[in-house]
Amino acid sequence: MSDGKREQWSSRLVFILAATGSAVGLGNIWKFPYITGENGGGAFVLIYLLCIASIGLPIMMAEIMLGRRGREDPVSTMKKLAKESGHSSAWGILGWLGVIAGFLILSYYSVIAGWAMAYVPKMASATFSGLNATQVDTVFSELVSNPMLLIFWHSLFLFLTMTIVAKGVRGGLEKAVTYLMPMLFILLIILIFYAMDTGYFMQGVHYLFNPDFSKISTDGVLSAMGHAFFTLSLGMGAIMVYGSYLPNKTSIAQASIAVAFMDTLVALLAGMIIFPIVFANSLETGAGPGLIFKTLPLAFGNMNYGTLFGTLFFVLLVFAAWTSSISLIEPAVTWVIKTFKISRLKASIITGFLVWLMGLMTVFSFNLASDFTISSVISTTHGEFVILKNATAFDLLDYLTSNIMLPLGGLMIAIYAGWLMKSQYSRAELDISIFWYRLWLFLVRYIAPVMVIVVFLNAMGIIAFIRTVVEA
Ligand code: PHE
Repeated sequence: MSDGKREQWSSRLVFILAATGSAVGLGNIWKFPYITGENGGGAFVLIYLLCIASIGLPIMMAEIMLGRRGREDPVSTMKKLAKESGHSSAWGILGWLGVIAGFLILSYYSVIAGWAMAYVPKMASATFSGLNATQVDTVFSELVSNPMLLIFWHSLFLFLTMTIVAKGVRGGLEKAVTYLMPMLFILLIILIFYAMDTGYFMQGVHYLFNPDFSKISTDGVLSAMGHAFFTLSLGMGAIMVYGSYLPNKTSIAQASIAVAFMDTLVALLAGMIIFPIVFANSLETGAGPGLIFKTLPLAFGNMNYGTLFGTLFFVLLVFAAWTSSISLIEPAVTWVIKTFKISRLKASIITGFLVWLMGLMTVFSFNLASDFTISSVISTTHGEFVILKNATAFDLLDYLTSNIMLPLGGLMIAIYAGWLMKSQYSRAELDISIFWYRLWLFLVRYIAPVMVIVVFLNAMGIIAFIRTVVEA
């Protein structure tokens, strides 16, 4: 997509593929399993699914709708549409928040994608073949404790991302998603068969789908909601930018459902692969960000054609991360181009360099600076509220973006689309029957904002505080 005249996706399918490419990424395969493990399984998954359906889907429709009506970068779109409905152009700030969130997320996303890249040659050279869990763990620890190595892979991944962004997203992206997404899917299915073969498949399924609410904290609920935004690429303008290239005739509702469905499917498949392996090898469910790097190599190292499948898997994971990372930085780049009136190439170089620098924080948080941590715990008579516990710079960045910035962005998008925008405009854009339109409006006006606010207040201990006061 070039910046002058706005191009459009060549078909509806391409938009769905591109949006799915943005949605499906490390969030599904790397993050979903490890945060599910950290938050005790089933209850977390249930809340996550609920958030996808009741908040994620309507907000996705809102974002695509705003994008298509505005047909500009998120900042200009928010300003323009606010004016169109007779409101202040200060709403441009919302676009800003998104630009910053995308920038911050990419800074650590690129480091993790770098890990996945580092695993490609490891897999291809059969490093893991026949290794046991402890040995696999050592390989991972050696990688993350080496800052130079992490910087190398982080730089390479970011370079690949910015190359595509500099060229204009469409050409490369369309091709990548058309072939690679289906391949990733096939590999996940192969891995599911492996997971079934471990003898612990049902235990894994039980862990994922049997909610035990005693295992989840208020902060876990916030993480589940934050992850719903993260995994669907919502709350920061990524899907808005993609929507801005959407032809007028395409049904926004159908496209959103398709994207949310595929995204959720990939995450659940990943969970159903990882947890049986965890249980079969007596690993820790709460192993944290290293979880897939400690479990999957174990599977590949001990299965037929493991070298081939393992290599292919990590290649595909890198591609999935790549198509997401492009959309993370696209809002920032389009904004830089417009604001500073420079070429796409220059804008990409400058933005890419800044993201790279910022990424060093994450790199060092796994080695040199791993002891720099902060904790924030609020004690009330209703229990302790652990907001952050021994959080490194990476944890902090992740928390700030996923759990705060994206839900906050989503909240404002819901209010903007539901309350500010004249309903004649949203009605015309969405073009769905009056029943579905009313349902959508109800969700973005009431359900999504209230849920986000309640979850926020709950995680900050404010609801418990109020209860203490009322009961006293
Ligand atoms: N949805 C992507 C993933 O799951 C990450 C992402 C977040 C991409 C926000 C764009 C915007 O990996």
